[in-house]
Amino acid sequence: MKAFFTEEFIEEVRMNNDIVEVVSEYVHLKRKGRYFFGLCPFHNERTPSFTVTPDLQIFNCFGCNKGGNVIHFIMSIENLDFVEAIKFLAERAGMELPGNDNSESAKEYKLKTEILNINKFVAQSYYNNLMSEKGSGAREYLSRRKINHAVVKKFGLGYSFPGNTLYELLQEKGFSKEAIIKSGLVIEGKRGKYFDRFRNRLMFPIFDVRGNVIGFGGRALDDTLPKYMNSPETLVYNKGRNLYALNFAKNFKDKKLIIVEGYMDVITLHQNGIINSVASLGTALTENQGRLLKKYAEEVIISFDADAAGQKAAMRSLDMLTNIGCKVKVLTIPNGKDPDEYVRENGPEAFKELIDNSMNLVEYKIGAVKKNIDTNTTEGKIEFVKKAAEILSLIESPAELEIYIRKISEQYEISMGSLYAEVQNRKSPKKVNKELRSFSKRQNVPDGKKEFLNKIEISKTFNNDKKIIYSELILIAILCMDNSVFKLVKDKYDLNSFSEENKHIASYVYEKLEAKARIVPVELLNSMDADKAGEFARILEQECNFDDSEKAVVDIINRLFTLKLENRKQEILEKIRNKDKLNLNSLQINELLKELNDLVFEIKKYSEP
Ligand code: UTP
Ligand code: MN
Repeated sequence: MKAFFTEEFIEEVRMNNDIVEVVSEYVHLKRKGRYFFGLCPFHNERTPSFTVTPDLQIFNCFGCNKGGNVIHFIMSIENLDFVEAIKFLAERAGMELPGNDNSESAKEYKLKTEILNINKFVAQSYYNNLMSEKGSGAREYLSRRKINHAVVKKFGLGYSFPGNTLYELLQEKGFSKEAIIKSGLVIEGKRGKYFDRFRNRLMFPIFDVRGNVIGFGGRALDDTLPKYMNSPETLVYNKGRNLYALNFAKNFKDKKLIIVEGYMDVITLHQNGIINSVASLGTALTENQGRLLKKYAEEVIISFDADAAGQKAAMRSLDMLTNIGCKVKVLTIPNGKDPDEYVRENGPEAFKELIDNSMNLVEYKIGAVKKNIDTNTTEGKIEFVKKAAEILSLIESPAELEIYIRKISEQYEISMGSLYAEVQNRKSPKKVNKELRSFSKRQNVPDGKKEFLNKIEISKTFNNDKKIIYSELILIAILCMDNSVFKLVKDKYDLNSFSEENKHIASYVYEKLEAKARIVPVELLNSMDADKAGEFARILEQECNFDDSEKAVVDIINRLFTLKLENRKQEILEKIRNKDKLNLNSLQINELLKELNDLVFEIKKYSEP
């Protein structure tokens, strides 16, 4: 039944439906730190044991053990099967369903494919124009802006001729009139005239993550206004759901993305080896763009223009990204330059230094407050302390708080004590602690039968085989949370080591990571049934809070080896016990005893820290 939709489509549907938003339509949720709490809609309760974790995009109930991602939530609450739930969520997100038996959407699917083909063909012909004799002006423009040919090719830059040529060209190629007009590249005028949308412009094809050309931007070669023109929204282009150059940047080895405003910023950065940059193309980031970023990055650095509009957009994007659980920093470029100008003048090393010095949420917000206040006056100082305390009171970690308070008190000559007092006033610590306590109590001892292995808890009631399966799931979860431990894991625990039950999901993860694709844990849930999804969601939320994922995977793998050796030990003991029934001779028994001896030694080796 799942084969009905492609894996990519299912994942796109999941990504376009934020779990907090969806659950909020059914359950009243309250945020507490990393979690949202509410009364479980799946069983009767008076105190909340239902949680939603926005950064993992999962839900869990400690009361009734239901759990999963947004798809499982909708399946349960709306009582839908998998396909119906995907349809429901696709519609909620305004997404078109891929071609199916419904004739209307089959037609639309065909049209979409045709538009994508038109875009691809037009991108190619814009490129040819640029390389032709008539493209010399555009080529000169590029060289004035120091854009080299390798980058022109990588980004597929092109040139649109001054006249109206596209309609005829596309008709000759056999594209339908409907698709030509709906591609947005040709505008139908009165009396059967057709105009090219883009004329005499430097052309930037816009790719989606999969590398399809979904639209275009075109820059004037002189002072013509508007400076940039863009494709309108079409069946294949939704501006707020896309990030320019993510198709390249997503392959960057660190999960860190820099987000800039414009086409030229991205292109110059890529030319200078800063290939983890993407552009929002003008406006503040939408939440959909935020979730897209979050899928590919653990840290997002916003580098918007220094003008008022850019800074306002930065602030809004910062809040939005923080809300959806992204780690965000802000990079400010000196002297009001944009990234393109700055890198061209100062080189990539200087820009990398700016990256290293980028400010986190708290620093940036306090800096912004400071900008509007004269702290040389007494009133100014008081106002600043109050506003700064407001921002600082959002910090949960005492250690982090202390660092900021120390920094600010030094920088602005304010005593640490008075800052602390102002912050504490805004925190009402008793309330917070009580809730945290009751949560961690519920989290740690839901049934009082947990055993500790370093930080990994495994139920005592599990037999060895179940423990192996469970530990492997933890291993897979960590792999998805921190893709960088893949090599370490793969070397110690290859695909064949996995138990039958987990082989399918493990090979999915290994294949993706082998192909250097990103993978996030919630994605795995897509293909799991309700029980498995519940189990995996619980593992994600409860078992995977490690400070050091390398150490965690080594621990788990050792544990897995020990469990397997113990299984073998039981097998041998069983045989020896039944030696008469099995007709074993003394030689065979000796062999078994020898293996047993080796096993005991091996087990000891793995279980020693
Ligand atoms: P900027 O005005 O900062 O342009 O707009 P830029 O990227 O620095 O361009 P150059 O360096 O002058 O070539 C940032 C982005 O806003 C969108 C474009 O996506 C642009 O890259 N924009 C800007 C438009 O869509 N239309 C416009 O008229 C201007
Ligand atoms: Mn610029």
